[in-house]
This record gives sequence, structure tokens and C-alpha cells, in this order.
Amino acid sequence: MTTSTQSDVTRFPEWQKLQAHHADVADLHLRELFDTDPGRGRDLTVTAGDLYIDYSLHRIDRTTLALLTDLARAAGLEEHRDRMLRGDHLNTTEDRAVLHTALRLPADAALTVGGRNVVADVHRVLDRMGEFTDRVRSGHWRGATGERITTVVNIGIGGSDLGPRMVYGALRYYADAGITVRFVSNVDPADLAAALADLDPATTLFIVSSKTFTTIETLTNATAARRWLTTALGEDAVARHFVAVSTNAAKVAEFGIDPANMFEFWDWVGGRYSVGSAIGLSVMAAVGREAFGQFLAGMHTVDRHFAEAPLEANAPVLLGLLGFWYSNFFDAETHAVLPYSNDLARFPAYLQQLTMESNGKAVQTNGVPVDTVTGTIWWGEPGTNGQHAFYQLLHQGTRLVPVDFLGFAEPTEDLPTSDGNGSMHDVLVSNLLAQRRVLAFGRTADELVTDGGLAELIPHKVMPGNRPSTTILAPKLTPSVLGQLIALYEHQTFAEGVLSNINSFDQWGVELGKTQALELQTLLGDSGQAAKPMDSSTETVAGWYRSMRGR
Ligand code: F6P
Repeated sequence: MTTSTQSDVTRFPEWQKLQAHHADVADLHLRELFDTDPGRGRDLTVTAGDLYIDYSLHRIDRTTLALLTDLARAAGLEEHRDRMLRGDHLNTTEDRAVLHTALRLPADAALTVGGRNVVADVHRVLDRMGEFTDRVRSGHWRGATGERITTVVNIGIGGSDLGPRMVYGALRYYADAGITVRFVSNVDPADLAAALADLDPATTLFIVSSKTFTTIETLTNATAARRWLTTALGEDAVARHFVAVSTNAAKVAEFGIDPANMFEFWDWVGGRYSVGSAIGLSVMAAVGREAFGQFLAGMHTVDRHFAEAPLEANAPVLLGLLGFWYSNFFDAETHAVLPYSNDLARFPAYLQQLTMESNGKAVQTNGVPVDTVTGTIWWGEPGTNGQHAFYQLLHQGTRLVPVDFLGFAEPTEDLPTSDGNGSMHDVLVSNLLAQRRVLAFGRTADELVTDGGLAELIPHKVMPGNRPSTTILAPKLTPSVLGQLIALYEHQTFAEGVLSNINSFDQWGVELGKTQALELQTLLGDSGQAAKPMDSSTETVAGWYRSMRGR
């Protein structure tokens, strides 16, 4: 077996074997795969913590799995995983460790990185977060006029927004202290204006969340929010109504937030991996420190599974291998995630940043262009809404879109069906089961004829099937289960990144646009001059905008 931590997998004999095998299985239909291996529905499943994952509805046989895990071993997946978990600087372009898993280690664990036990640092901050949110939740922390805080507004963007926003939505059932959280991210002033429209400054607490504390959207929104507050309550109110979450104490102080009101995290936590850090402060304010602890413990459960389970039974690795299989061998360009849970409405958006900012890369860690396909396009909406929007393309379109279905046994709340006898949650889950089944097995022309279908409609009604899906089930959408789901996808993303030998932890591609936006502000302003000469299209479009604005 080849072993390597640095080379392109397409040169490995394991890749050649997989390619030859692909030619054998590519045209097999899931109907045939189930006919020849009727037990696969029971066997091609894996559990990780509370998650039960069925991957039998994939265009693979048992040999495919063996070849894929061989490839993962050859790519050094286990070595890379172990290096990440012990704090090696896997983020080479920024020379940083990648240790979001340390955020969820229990207090009695130890992990020394750069001479420091980072677990002690993590729990020191968690304790501070707990003390602070206890005070807010109990009403001991009051606003400048002595009123209780009832609304927390998290100002942040990217990883400083998507994680807490998604988790707050998913755990709304656990928000038990009368604290409502709102999220402001976009530099479009409509976002802040809508969030503040019906709020009372006296009962509002702002959490300015930014790893770098230099992000233009966040600082612009925070400045405007501060103006809104001080106009109503005066400058001295800032200390009671603004706290910060950041790695950059100097910039927080420069903004005017007392570093005593800053909750710290570290450069070894990537923005899109930061929801378990102090970036989750708004969530903790809503659900309390105990539920937040369960959320972290859930992540840790899947971290351990990822660290310990053999690749053949390692859920995030298997999902990563399947993702790689479709993007590299079936030319699948997108991947849909379909939560049958309305409370997970923001989960697809959260996964977009996690997966696409991580793996949207075209060079390997050594700077050489990749030979593999990287960075699938992730998207999705909750079922059953999506069924009445885009599922038509999933079922009968010409593209192959692998799908993840997410579902839960117990609803957080249930209602009776219209006849009063059934459960609405059962209806939801029956839709999940129906969709995965129809995607996989479809409906043939023969079946339509037998059912007495009109001949001219048969081509339109044939459902090709053979559309792959994974089903991820859990007992209930609890804080722990949500943590498990997040860690599952984090490690899947990592596994896919290792197979392509890319750095999943930097994001240089978003930097140039940020710089140019700053340069272009002057072109739009009164001077009409850009800092640098621009192309004719940019100048013309900017000119149109300026004239519309009367400049
Ligand atoms: O979009 C780029 C990015 O750097 C993300 O990776 C990050 O989550 C986001 O901006 C926000 O950054 P910060 O937390 O430093 O404000």
C-alpha cells in the first residue's frame, strides 16, 4: 500500500483500482444493487454517538467501500487526523494549529500546545461565559437604566454569525430565560435597521463577535448600533450594553469595549469552526450554560468517534469518501442537505460556509494545482418545503445530486393531524422515507403500464431513480445531538480535504474582494476617484450608481 502525506492521490495505485472499479459499478442501478445484496439496507449503516446513518442508498457495493478506505489510508487520512487532534500546524499558510476539537474537551483533559494546556484556557473562558450569561439570564446584569436585558443582538458575519444563528434557531425550544437573540451580519443597513426597529435600547445587549475584530461589516454595524444606543442612553451606557467576542483584545479596546467585557478565543479556532468557542455566547445567553455544555459534549462524542473508529466504521470518514466518490467519479457538482426539521432551517447555510470555505481550493498544500475535484457546492432547504420547490430536478433532472436527509424520531413538539388521530411529525417523517425511496428506486415504465397509465404520459412519469442519498437519524434535536451533527460534518469536510491534499483551514480567496471593496468606496463617493485605475466596466457601473445618487 502506498502511504503518503504529501502527494496527489490520482497517482496512487489505489486510485487506479478505484477508477477500474468505477467502470464496473457506474451503470448499476440501486435496484440491482439491492437485488444482488439484499442485506445492504441493514449492513450499510453506521452509528456515531446518537446518530444512526444509513448509506445503503448509494451507488456503491461493498468493494467500493473497501477501495475508498484503501485510498483514504494511502492519502494518510489517519495520520492527518491524528496530527490535527494533537495540535500540529495543519493550517500551513497561516502557520496555525487547527484545534476546534479542543473547544469540546472535558475540563479534566489536557492538551499542551506551544507549552500551554489549551484545555485550561478553554474552560477558563467557558466559566466566564457561564458566569456572565447566568447574570444576564437571572437579571443580575442590568442595562444602564436598571432594566433587565431581554434581547441579545449578535453582530458578526461568516463564522461569527452562521454558527450561533443556526444553533439558536435549532435550539429555540431550549431557550428558557426569556432572552431573545437577533443576528445582524450584512453591511446592508437594512439588516441592522430591521433588527433594531422594535427594540428598546434599555433592554438590549450587543455582542460584537469577530475573530479578527477588523471585519468591515461587523465594525460598521457595531459602530451604528453603538450610535443607536448612545443617542438614547448616553456614552456611559456602552459598558452595560456592549460585550465582545474576539481573539484581538487591542482592537476590542480601540473600539471602546472594556477588555473585561471581552470573551476570548484563539487563532487555532477557524471562524467556520468556532461555534463551540465564545462565539456561541449568544446561544449560551438563550439556552444557559448547562445546555451549552451538552452541545459541546455532543461534539466531543463525535470527535472521539472520528479519532477512534476504524475508517470502515467511521461515520464522517465514510461520508467524506462518498462525497469524494461522487464529485470525482460521477462529476456531481452539488450536494443537497435536506433537514426534515424546520428548526434546522439555517443548517444548509451553515454547512455552506463550513464545506465551501474549507474545501473551495485549487492547489494542494505544497502549492501545486490539484488533480482532483474539490469543493462540492452545498445547498438545501428543510423538507417538506423543498419537495414543492426543487425536488422535481432531484427526481427527474439530468444532473446527479447526492442528498443528505436528516430526521428525528421525537419531535420537540407535535400536533394532531386534521382527522385528530395522527401525528404531524409522523407525516413529516413519512415524507422523508418516501423521498429517499423514490429517489433511489424510482418507477419504471413497466410499473406505470401495469398501473394503467396513459401511454403518451409514460415517458413523463417514469422516475429514473438511482439517485443516491444518505439518511442521518437521531432520537431528538437536543443540544447534544446538534453538536454531534456539527462535528460529523466538520470531520467529513476534513476527510474530503485530506483526499485532495488541500488546506481546508485557510480562506485566501475571500481576501481580495474585501480589499477591493475598500478601494472602490472612494470611487462611489464624492471624489469619484478610485485609489487605483479601474477597468472601463467598473468605472461605468460606478458612474451609473453615482449619477443615480446625485453625485
Ligand atoms: O469571509 C471570510 C471570513 O474570514 C470568515 O472566514 C470568517 O468567519 C468571517 O470572515 C468573519 O471574520 P471575523 O470573525 O474575523 O469577523
